[in-house]
Amino acid sequence: MITTLCLNPSFDRTVAVQGFRLGETNRALTARVDAGGKGLNVALALTRLGVDAQCAGIAGADDVASLRAMTVQQGVAAEWMPVPGHVRVNTKLCDASTGEVTEINEPGPEVTDKDLDRYFGCIEPALRRSDFLVCTGSLPPGCPATLYADWMRRLKGVPCVLDASGPALAEGLTARPFLVKPNLEELTQLTGLTLESRHSLEAVAEAGKSLLRQGAERAIVSMGSDGALLVTAEGVWFAPALRVEVRSTVGAGDTMIAGFLAGYQATHSDETAMIWAVAAAAASVMREGTQPPERADFEALQSRVSLRRLE
Ligand SMILES: Nc1ncnc2c1ncn2[C@@H]1O[C@H](COP(=O)(O)OP(=O)(O)OP(=O)(O)O)[C@@H](O)[C@H]1O
Ligand SMILES: [Mg+2]
Repeated sequence: MITTLCLNPSFDRTVAVQGFRLGETNRALTARVDAGGKGLNVALALTRLGVDAQCAGIAGADDVASLRAMTVQQGVAAEWMPVPGHVRVNTKLCDASTGEVTEINEPGPEVTDKDLDRYFGCIEPALRRSDFLVCTGSLPPGCPATLYADWMRRLKGVPCVLDASGPALAEGLTARPFLVKPNLEELTQLTGLTLESRHSLEAVAEAGKSLLRQGAERAIVSMGSDGALLVTAEGVWFAPALRVEVRSTVGAGDTMIAGFLAGYQATHSDETAMIWAVAAAAASVMREGTQPPERADFEALQSRVSLRRLE
């Protein structure tokens, strides 16, 4: 069983307008609401790839029933601990005439140290029984940036995947995660990589290796349509992104993690896991919004992935 954390879920409200006018009344052409959150996305992608997965999260009590109903409908196993307040709404305003998307993300309900301690106590047995724990997504207001690092340390022995940015990533490295998956932006913030040097695979590989020196067991550096690097103690590999019909790249990184874990669980091979990761990510960009990949696409794309050893 793979467990993902989702401490600040959202209702993602996508509203389409024709010719958005700032400061005026705009009429929506369409509107839809999806349950959102990176931990939920990873659990959903794993489930679609045929892996046993569950999502553990905290949610505003006023909306927890709707969130539950939505996750049940999506077919993902999720348990939410209610805290006072609402589930945040993240609005994505899509202007059909320009293709521009404007996002307004709410902070989410405040959580206290007491809530976090109580929650950890409740889920600790399930986390300890997990084959992997995925720590991903923004932390709710009131939550220290060291939370993922603290929990990973307390769960010593459980292989953890960390997909975070800024201080949460920097702190988390010291807890020796099994895998970190920064994108180029996140890697640039953390290492000596510069805006110019990030065009060189060698420079990105060096920055990736520095994550291993800081504590990570392996790192995937994802570079959007420029592909991804896998850095382990055994070597460095590059995989170009697959050319597919792109509908939405949001959540490609989340699905990449799901693909890697599915592959690693099945084969214990980093190289095979990376092939599965790239195929899953490509299958994900073929789908609108943050919808999970189709298993048939994922399976068909695996044979198209090329993995080149750099070191
Ligand atoms: N346009 C694209 N075409 C094909 N594959 C893509 C494209 N964009 C991303 N991918 C695949 O998805 C992987 C992850 O993408 P990216 O680096 O954008 O992740 P990310 O920034 O962490 O995304 P998110 O946090 O939204 O999930 C890439 O390494 C690549 O394999
Ligand atoms: Mg990401």
